[in-house]
Amino acid sequence: MIKILFVCLGNICRSPLAEAIFNQKIAEKGLNHAFKADSAGTGHWHIGENPDPRTIAIARKNNVPIQHTGRQFSSDDSAFDYILAMDGNNLTNILSLMETPHEGLFLMRYFDHEQKEADVPDPYYGGDDGFQKVYDILDRSCERFIEFLVDKHKL
Ligand code: 4NP
Repeated sequence: MIKILFVCLGNICRSPLAEAIFNQKIAEKGLNHAFKADSAGTGHWHIGENPDPRTIAIARKNNVPIQHTGRQFSSDDSAFDYILAMDGNNLTNILSLMETPHEGLFLMRYFDHEQKEADVPDPYYGGDDGFQKVYDILDRSCERFIEFLVDKHKL
């Protein structure tokens, strides 16, 4: 079982959506048995909360089931095989918490063929169109990330 963790700041917008999209894609591809996905935030403000209502709305609009309870990233999360940071600030915060280098730590958009290594923009303070934009970025990036995993782990 390959363990994947998606990380953002609040764990109510980008990373729970990435987790939900990833889960739907692996289910469609018959790969559920191979992976376990989770998400976390570097911030503590939304521990125990459901995803933001706008995150739930955009997932529903795109027929993606979403279910997550907010939790904070900790150094114990280095047990995950892959850690996908939504933006450069998240990556810096993750690195500052990890005691040893982690081979599976990537920026989410490393896997975006349209704009490799850019940030997934934080939609929290913006309008609803920001959520569709984030959805589209995560949809593309998760697709490529799964291709990478299938190739690397010979699934
Ligand atoms: P996320 O968005 O990191 O994509 O979950 C945010 C959610 C909440 C806050 C910031 C970003 N906040 O400052 O509470």
